[in-house]
Amino acid sequence: MKIAVFNGSPRKENTYAMVQAFCEGAEAAGHEVEVYHVGQMKIAGCLGCGYCHGKGEGNCIQKDDLEKIMPAYREADMIVFASPIYYFTMTAQMQAAIQRMYCIWKPLKAKKYALLLSSGSPNVYDGTIAQFEAMMNFSKIDNAGIITAHGDENKSEEKLNEIREFAKGL
Ligand SMILES: Cc1cc2nc3c(=O)[nH]c(=O)nc-3n(C[C@H](O)[C@H](O)[C@H](O)COP(=O)(O)O)c2cc1C
Repeated sequence: MKIAVFNGSPRKENTYAMVQAFCEGAEAAGHEVEVYHVGQMKIAGCLGCGYCHGKGEGNCIQKDDLEKIMPAYREADMIVFASPIYYFTMTAQMQAAIQRMYCIWKPLKAKKYALLLSSGSPNVYDGTIAQFEAMMNFSKIDNAGIITAHGDENKSEEKLNEIREFAKGL
């Protein structure tokens, strides 16, 4: 399976460690994995101009790093959204990457989504999980799994192993 991982963190710390563990497991299982560090990209918010659904024919009028992630929306069999929690949601960079998908409405091939979330505190995931579930429902995409890490769980061998095993089982 061709798996695209979107890493919404601007840092190479907790979420990055989750992404690395996911890649190790998925690659061990023979999947082809591509990581997109959207947290470090320059992807502006959608302008809502409608150009993409008219003259643009599926292409956005804004020319920025969106072009780097469009191959994932077009070709991946599975997309993993990995992000730290910022004020009870995924990072602004990740939200921009998701909302700019508007130009093609939904991933063209993906059949599965997964979610990896890192936070300081527990019990801060409800809003993100609700968004994730609504996105899957809208796009007719299955939930492959949700893994969260808060506080000391971040970068813990136990949590990273859980992620490796999850990815190996895909
Ligand atoms: C702007 C900002 C907002 C945050 N908001 C929350 C929050 O609402 N709840 C929480 O538990 N942690 C919050 N955190 C902490 C991060 O989610 C946490 O440190 C996470 O592990 C960072 O992941 P990273 O190392 O990949 O950047 C916030 C951190 C920042 C920088």
